[in-house]
Amino acid sequence: MSRPTAAIILAAGRSTRMVTDLPKVLHEVCGRPMLAYVVDACRAAGIERIICVVGYQKDAVIQTFKDDPQIIWVEQTEQKGTGHAAMVCRDALADFDGNLVVIAGDMPLVRSETLALLIQRHEKERSAVTLATALLDNPTGYGRIIRDEYGNLEGIVEEGDCTSEQRKIKEVNPSYYCFDKKLLFTALDRVRPDNVKGEYYITDALEILIQAGHRAVAVTAVPAEDAMGINSRHNLAEVGRIMQDRIQRNLMSSGVTIVDPRTTWIDVRAEIGQDTVIYPFTYINGRVKIGKHCVVGPFAYLRDGTVLKDDVVAGVFIELKNSLLDEGTRARHLSYIGDAEIGKCVNVGAGTIFANFDGKEIHRSYVGNETYIGNGSILVAPLTVEAGRQIPHGSVVRGPDSSSRNGGQ
Ligand code: UD1
Ligand code: MG
Repeated sequence: MSRPTAAIILAAGRSTRMVTDLPKVLHEVCGRPMLAYVVDACRAAGIERIICVVGYQKDAVIQTFKDDPQIIWVEQTEQKGTGHAAMVCRDALADFDGNLVVIAGDMPLVRSETLALLIQRHEKERSAVTLATALLDNPTGYGRIIRDEYGNLEGIVEEGDCTSEQRKIKEVNPSYYCFDKKLLFTALDRVRPDNVKGEYYITDALEILIQAGHRAVAVTAVPAEDAMGINSRHNLAEVGRIMQDRIQRNLMSSGVTIVDPRTTWIDVRAEIGQDTVIYPFTYINGRVKIGKHCVVGPFAYLRDGTVLKDDVVAGVFIELKNSLLDEGTRARHLSYIGDAEIGKCVNVGAGTIFANFDGKEIHRSYVGNETYIGNGSILVAPLTVEAGRQIPHGSVVRGPDSSSRNGGQ
């Protein structure tokens, strides 16, 4: 019978190695803060009660997740290590008994399937602690998994505390653990900061449980690719690339053509319909929705709030922001379309600019169905263009009340 499962996500660290003013877990990976991926993976693995430990710039972190009232925030006022971060959750979990997943907030590549498997194995083995490990060609920077001659788990040693022999071990700790909640907190009481960093390590709690004769199981369940935690800007870029590959593979599986994945960047929040073709050097950033049978790029920049209905072309050197292009509309070359709603089958001529900003405020434009916008036109917002209008090449089109805002020319 399965027991309830809660999770502690460790997200209080400042991260000196990132050299940053921003809390590490708020750094974005393909458009979302890295912590959001960890929260989602826990939820998708069926964990409902999620506690996030915050410290460095906690208000900024909590504010970023204000739309997610289910997360329980616990403050770690001083960052004394991963074990200490778990310790401060004692009160928040006083009424809880069951499985307790502890996971670092700096590993957005974690998969819900791996967490689900970890919990499943933990229950099946009836262990005090189960951890998922990974085998890495280059284990530098990770805690090494120590096993005895029979392969039984003995503990985890941090890189800085490793002997030169231990440093050669390629099985590492990606930081996904499932503990028996009660046993974890008893073990944490006995963790001491006697290591090179002078920190309380969660990994020591595991060793304490093993030495007390409790069952500990290590499952080599984490694909090498997923194990990477983000501790530096280099890791951030590398993880971003891996995440980007995942996003693109998912899109391709659902019928999107990405002509050159390496020169294409697509936000994790973007939605793209079947048979749409994305040409090289396209950058899709933010909540962008693209329908079916569209053509995007090459060299297109689609920003937050862009909606392309079916059969739309947003071609070469087009920048789109917070705009809707309805079915069959074509903007093939060299345009900026910002804060505009464009109807069906509109021709947006080469070099069309929507002048949406008057120096103080942003304004919207509306363009009716089957409008023809001649090349090199400037549409000065706020503006409404009636359906079917033919705008000659090189026009400056103003709305009735836009002249005073724009120098009255
Ligand atoms: C940790 C593991 C290491 C593992 C690696 C995987 C320990 C002691 N080491 O090392 O075995 O291989 O992750 O990526 O656990 N945090 C707090 N409060 C603190 C300290 C850290 O909340 O006082 C948070 C950080 O914000 C971070 C996470 O815990 O999200 C992990 O801390 P980090 O310093 O990145 O640990 P690693 O050195 O990566
Ligand atoms: Mg880390």
